[in-house]
Amino acid sequence: MNRIRPITDPSRPKVYIETYGCQMNVNDSEVILSILQDAGYALTDDIEEASVILANTCSIRDNAEQRIWGRIDQFKLQKRKRDGVVIGIVGCMAERLKDKLLEAVDIVAGPDAYRSLPELLEAVAPDSPQMNVMLSHEETYADITPVRMDRNGISGFISIMRGCNNVCSYCIVPYTRGAERSRDPYTIVQEAKTLFENGYKEVTLLGQNVDSYFWKDAEKADRNVNFAQLLEMVAKISPELRVRFSTSHPKDISDEVIYTMAMYENICKHIHLPVQSGSSIMLEKMRRKYDREWYLERVRKIRSVIPDCGITTDVIAGFSGETAQDHQDTLSLMEQVVFDSAFMFAYSERPGTLASRKYPDDIPYGLKTERLNEIIALQGRMSLKSNEKEIGKTLKVLVEGPSKKNPDELCGRASSNKMCVFPSRGEKAGDYCEVEVVSVTSATLLCKRID
Ligand code: 5AD
Ligand code: SF4
Repeated sequence: MNRIRPITDPSRPKVYIETYGCQMNVNDSEVILSILQDAGYALTDDIEEASVILANTCSIRDNAEQRIWGRIDQFKLQKRKRDGVVIGIVGCMAERLKDKLLEAVDIVAGPDAYRSLPELLEAVAPDSPQMNVMLSHEETYADITPVRMDRNGISGFISIMRGCNNVCSYCIVPYTRGAERSRDPYTIVQEAKTLFENGYKEVTLLGQNVDSYFWKDAEKADRNVNFAQLLEMVAKISPELRVRFSTSHPKDISDEVIYTMAMYENICKHIHLPVQSGSSIMLEKMRRKYDREWYLERVRKIRSVIPDCGITTDVIAGFSGETAQDHQDTLSLMEQVVFDSAFMFAYSERPGTLASRKYPDDIPYGLKTERLNEIIALQGRMSLKSNEKEIGKTLKVLVEGPSKKNPDELCGRASSNKMCVFPSRGEKAGDYCEVEVVSVTSATLLCKRID
């Protein structure tokens, strides 16, 4: 059987990995650990005993990068304390800043260069930092079994594709992660099966734009696989294995995907569908390739086929040239859709993107923050409203563990991804419980047992 948990052999040199950014990065760190374990390393949680310290980084907003510069200074303290400590920056920021980072650390490796980490580590010397930031059109790490670093052993992430071919004008990802490529579906199903055989109860299929997943079979066109078909293949592994996915793109999410979700009870009824703005003018400038009406139609379609589907989103406040009316359009769309939850950001100009070249970052910081705060406040009310609609409903919850506030209670997620809290009868993480929603907050459904 493939080894999926960390090796704890005390005689091995230790690697410490910090992960920033998205879930894809979490999964990439698991791929990195797999590669380094094969090269003789073992994972540690304790930076004080690490001989290799890695940060898997994110460039999506300037403040993400600023945090990492701060961490590099702290990593350097470890170098002063012990001989032979190697510091590496990997991931999106390594790709974006390349030589600039090489002045500060020993190893710089981009998202497609993880296989070369053992060689880079071998070659590194005090005055000889090492770098590999080559992007690839083929690399999907399909043959590497990620070593799972999660604690609960219940919920695992599987990358189904890498890179991104969209050209959203604000976004750095196509530059840091390169062109889109889909991974062989049979290796994806195998990875999900291995997780299930190891006690996992939930897999999340990950991609920048899962709807454009497409596997072209080298020999027979009837063996091509699109995202809806991939979802079905994974759902068929077992009705006991929940399947989630992220992220969907409003321009690409197909009716076939929506109907496939409806057909399988174990495909969770949740779609993360980033809208970014409610203004068609802003959406055009963002190069999202849909407008407000298109987005609202997709939401109507989802809800007509899957009435209880959870829908969450991402919103950007204060993109270039955003007027008071554009901002109002975002607020009114949020009120119309009533998202379950949202990730909300102030626009942060990223050097090298289309927006940084064509559109001035002209909304003053104070106004951006004011708009963002209005968006956050509105979403709080919408989350509460969306949760209130759940009162009286019966839900099947996958237990994640004891509730943080009260050890006599359990917490876990419903199919819609909403967090539920309910009395324990001694179940453990990975068990399913039937509950009824009694009352709610904007973040949680408080439930009673009905099983
Ligand atoms: N500024 C602010 N938010 C951004 N996002 C992506 N790029 C930027 C940027 N330059 C947000 C989008 C995306 C999420 C992952 O991050 O909302 O969906
Ligand atoms: Fe993930 Fe984007 Fe951050 Fe890269 S830049 S880690 S793809 S969120």
